[in-house]
Amino acid sequence: MESFKAYKLTETPEKKIRAEFVDMTLDDLDPGDVVIRVAYSDVNYKDALAATGKGKILRRASCVGGIDLAGTVVSSENGKFKKGDAAVGIGFDLGVSHHGGYAQYARVPAGWLTKLPQGLTLWDAMAFGTAGYTAGIAIVRMEHEGLKPSSGPVLVNGATGGVGSIAVASLARLGYHVVALTGKESEADWLKKLGAKEILLRKTLNLEKIKPLDKSTWAGAVDSLGGDVLSWICSTMKDNGVIASIGLAASPNLNTTVMPFILRGARLLGINSGESSNDVRDTVWRRLATDMKPPLLREMARTVPFSKLPTVFDDFINARVTRRVVVDLEE
Ligand SMILES: NC(=O)c1ccc[n+]([C@@H]2O[C@H](COP(=O)([O-])OP(=O)(O)OC[C@H]3O[C@@H](n4cnc5c(N)ncnc54)[C@H](OP(=O)(O)O)[C@@H]3O)[C@@H](O)[C@H]2O)c1
Repeated sequence: MESFKAYKLTETPEKKIRAEFVDMTLDDLDPGDVVIRVAYSDVNYKDALAATGKGKILRRASCVGGIDLAGTVVSSENGKFKKGDAAVGIGFDLGVSHHGGYAQYARVPAGWLTKLPQGLTLWDAMAFGTAGYTAGIAIVRMEHEGLKPSSGPVLVNGATGGVGSIAVASLARLGYHVVALTGKESEADWLKKLGAKEILLRKTLNLEKIKPLDKSTWAGAVDSLGGDVLSWICSTMKDNGVIASIGLAASPNLNTTVMPFILRGARLLGINSGESSNDVRDTVWRRLATDMKPPLLREMARTVPFSKLPTVFDDFINARVTRRVVVDLEE
C-alpha cells in the first residue's frame, strides 16, 4: 500500500515535543488485530496537552497523536469485526503509547473498539469523542446512584468545554434542571440553547472562604475543574447528592472536609473513561445514540481539515474553546 499522512509527536532531547506531519505505511503502525481507515478524529484537552508538550501525556518517545478515532474496518483478524464495519475507538493507549487517531490508518486491538451504534454517524461519534463519552459515563453512573430529574438541580462546570457542553445538553435532553457554571459570560445564550435552565458565572462565586457545609443546593454535579470549585461543590450538595469528578482543568487539588459525606451523605464518584469495560462502553454509546443524544449535536462541533490540526491546540490550552473539534482525515 502507498504511504499515508500522520501527525506524529516526538519528545526531543530537551524534553520538548516536536509535532509534525509525516508519511507512514501500514508496516509502521503498532500491532493489533483490526486495521481501520480513519475517517474522523477529534481534539480533547488531553490531545492539546500532548501535542503542545504542556502536559506529560506521551508514554513513549514517539507516537502518532489522537486519543480518539472513528472509521471503517479495512481488515480484521478478530471475529467481532469484519471488513466494512464502522467502528469507534476511545482512549486506552491511543495517542499515548500506541499510534492514535491522527493518521489516515490505524491498527488497534479489537478490544479497544466499539461497533458504531445505530443512530450515530462516524462524525457524530467524534463530535462526542472522549469528552462526550466521559460525560455519558458520568450521567450513567450518577443515575445508577439514584439521581433522577426529580432529585433537584444538577450543576455542570467548565460548561462550554467538551465534557461540560455535552453533559449540559444530554442532561437537559433527559429532563434535568441543568445549571451551567462557566467563565465565559459571552456564551450564556449558547448554553441556554443547549438546554441549561440557569447560568452561573464563575466570577460570582466566593471561593476565598469555602465553608465545610454551605446552602444545600445540588442534587448532582459534573466537575471538569477540580480545585476550589470542586471544594465549593462538595459543601453545597443536597442530601445524598452525587458528584462526578472528571477533570482537573483548574487544579488537581481538592481541599474539603468529610462533613458533606458524613452529614449529607454526598457521594464523590471518580470517572475514568480510559479504563471502562466493554459493557460500560456499549451501554454509554447506545445511550449517546438514543435518549442522551443532544438535539444540537451538529452545531456543537466544528470540523477542521487534517492539515489545519496544528492550529487548534492553543485554544484548548488557553480555555478559549467553545465547540468540540472534529478532525476530518479524509480531506
Ligand atoms: N476522567 C476522564 O476519563 C476524563 C475524560 C475526558 C476529559 N477529562 C478531563 O476533564 C477536563 C475537561 O476536559 P475537556 O475535554 O472538556 O476540556 P475543554 O474542552 O478544554 O474544556 C474545559 C473547560 O473548563 C473551563 N476551564 C478551563 N481552564 C480552566 C481554569 N483554569 N479554571 C477554571 N475553568 C477552566 C473552561 O470552561 P468555561 O469557560 O465554560 O468555564 C473550558 O472550556 C480536563 O481536565 C480533562 O483532562 C477527564
